[in-house]
Amino acid sequence: MNILFIGDIVGSYGRAIVKHLLPGIKKEFAVDFTIANGENSAHGYSITEKIYNELLAMGVDAITMGNHMWEKKEMVQKISSLERMVRPANYPPGVPGKDHLIIDFKGNKIGMVNLLGRVFMQCMDCPFQAAEKLMPKIKEQAKIIIVDIHAEATSEKNAMGYFLDGKVSAVIGTHTHVITADERILPRGTAYISDIGMVGAQDSIIGMNKEQILKRFTTQMPEKFEPTEEGPGIFNAVLLKVDTSTGKALEIKSIIKITEPLPMPKDEKERK
Ligand SMILES: [Fe+2]
Ligand SMILES: [Fe+2]
Repeated sequence: MNILFIGDIVGSYGRAIVKHLLPGIKKEFAVDFTIANGENSAHGYSITEKIYNELLAMGVDAITMGNHMWEKKEMVQKISSLERMVRPANYPPGVPGKDHLIIDFKGNKIGMVNLLGRVFMQCMDCPFQAAEKLMPKIKEQAKIIIVDIHAEATSEKNAMGYFLDGKVSAVIGTHTHVITADERILPRGTAYISDIGMVGAQDSIIGMNKEQILKRFTTQMPEKFEPTEEGPGIFNAVLLKVDTSTGKALEIKSIIKITEPLPMPKDEKERK
């Protein structure tokens, strides 16, 4: 089975790039199932129900999240009804939303887990313990398991790769919005990459307006950050080839596409 995992989709421009490129990529790589990280899809911060539905309509089958999970407040209420979204599993107990997701695709069950790192990030429960606790439960139901480790430090993501090697099909890093060149199959059959990058404007700082980010870095003053919505687009993802009988990864390959500038909707509401 060919599984496409798309990096953090940043704002309406990232969504426009997914809409523009995904049908062609699915054909080119014979993609069966598509997962995307949606934590920045609503104007850079979190997601809304409307955008969740928009991404599914574009051909995304499941959505993982990250540290921006709750910045659109409606998520607190709505997440429980979003059947194809998994939130980070290592929040304290009692948080709404699914700590794992299992989707049946043509008789093959695909399990998905989203974890938040703790190095240079907000204080969370231990992602390693959370993964260990969830795995037996998921394994009972799904052979294929894809883990999104949403973290800042490559060391922490690398550690999660080896921690879960042989127990899951893939450990995929997200959050930094910069694709790394270390994709490989680990010794016990788990596909790994430290970060799969993003989908957004290329002439930006990790998808966001470069003037705003530079102002913050150079003055240390508060500054509003907004996604860049013009210029060439970048689409980062990985393609995973998984053996459905064993759940082991056979191949991991990064996909990097650059688009020409795309037209944007004029309506401010549509963009946010
Ligand atoms: Fe992100
Ligand atoms: Fe993030």
